Amino acid sequence: MNTLTHDYQTLLLEASHKNITKAAQIVASGGNVAFPTETVYGLGAGVFHEEAVQNIFRAKGRPSDNPLIVHCAEKQDLVSITDLSPQNFSPFHQEFFDVLFERFCPGPLTFILPKKNVVPDIVTAGLHTVAVRFPKHPVALELIRKTGEPLVAPSANRSGYPSPTTAAHVMHDLEGRIDAVLDGGTCALGIESTVINILANPPHILRPGSITLDKLNTVAEQFGVRFEENSTNGKDKQPPLSPGMKYRHYAPNAQVLIVDSLEEAEAVFVRFSRAKIFTGSAKSLLGKSTLNTTIYALSEQNLYAELRAADDERLEAVIVIYDDVLRQNVALMNRLRKAAEG
Ligand code: TXA
Ligand code: MG
Repeated sequence: MNTLTHDYQTLLLEASHKNITKAAQIVASGGNVAFPTETVYGLGAGVFHEEAVQNIFRAKGRPSDNPLIVHCAEKQDLVSITDLSPQNFSPFHQEFFDVLFERFCPGPLTFILPKKNVVPDIVTAGLHTVAVRFPKHPVALELIRKTGEPLVAPSANRSGYPSPTTAAHVMHDLEGRIDAVLDGGTCALGIESTVINILANPPHILRPGSITLDKLNTVAEQFGVRFEENSTNGKDKQPPLSPGMKYRHYAPNAQVLIVDSLEEAEAVFVRFSRAKIFTGSAKSLLGKSTLNTTIYALSEQNLYAELRAADDERLEAVIVIYDDVLRQNVALMNRLRKAAEG
């Protein structure tokens, strides 16, 4: 179905029940459909449809050593993909998982769990673990249920580019390379799920998201442990635990520059003919610009849309003033710093 050698049309479907049924049929017969989740749009394929999974890597231009997240509608769906037998998953792990699940799922939390052998290697990049998440978005849930199989879904962008938070972003990146896009409007959260590994001791956050360290620790404390944030500065002796974190990510063509003050931002701003200044709390800088330029607010919800808009507007630079609001947002700053490295 998804052959990149042929020019074929990508269907843009409004996410009605009828169209979700149609999308589920496409996925069940080995196709690729992008769909909304509460975080960002995902590019879906049936977890057991190896060729369709392969096509995801081709359509996105994604390196094959970067494993995918499997999206389930129900906790029982885990039976088909994870091996939670006591030798792999102790009663401690099971109880810890159950309480985290109760508290945060469905929602923007991804678990690294021991996998069943039937999960194709292409999904997990040959790892013994599989990443699993239970999305909250009704369109995602209906699509998974109607397909009758969990769906792998990386963010539905070209690899390295900012993640998509609208169907238009997906079409911009992947039109002609995938079978269909279900348009369910703008994603509510705007950045990808928190990825955690509770098999590690202490448990680790592999990718920060809107379920923060503090929120996770309110549960972990009941189990006498605390989550640790994974260092992803590339200087670690060990290979990165979440393989995807080492690649160029989230970057627009415009340069992303992070500075500490308005003065610094303006000194950089005048070096470019087309640039915009952002910060966490734009209100606090209202009227303070000596250059009389607008300072825009940056949040999890608009980050990727603004990075994409920067390219549409042919900006040379996106200048971000690191203020107290941004300082408190580990997930947003994680994406922004990666965009700045790109
Ligand atoms: O919110 C999200 O998580 C979105 C939506 C579509 O659900 N999906 C998403 O997928 O962000 P993706 O492929 O862009 O990111 C998956 C992340 C990568 O950093 C990958 O390395 C990590 O999860 N990952 C997947 N399987 C893993 C595993 N077995 N062990 C460690 N990390 C894993
Ligand atoms: Mg991604």
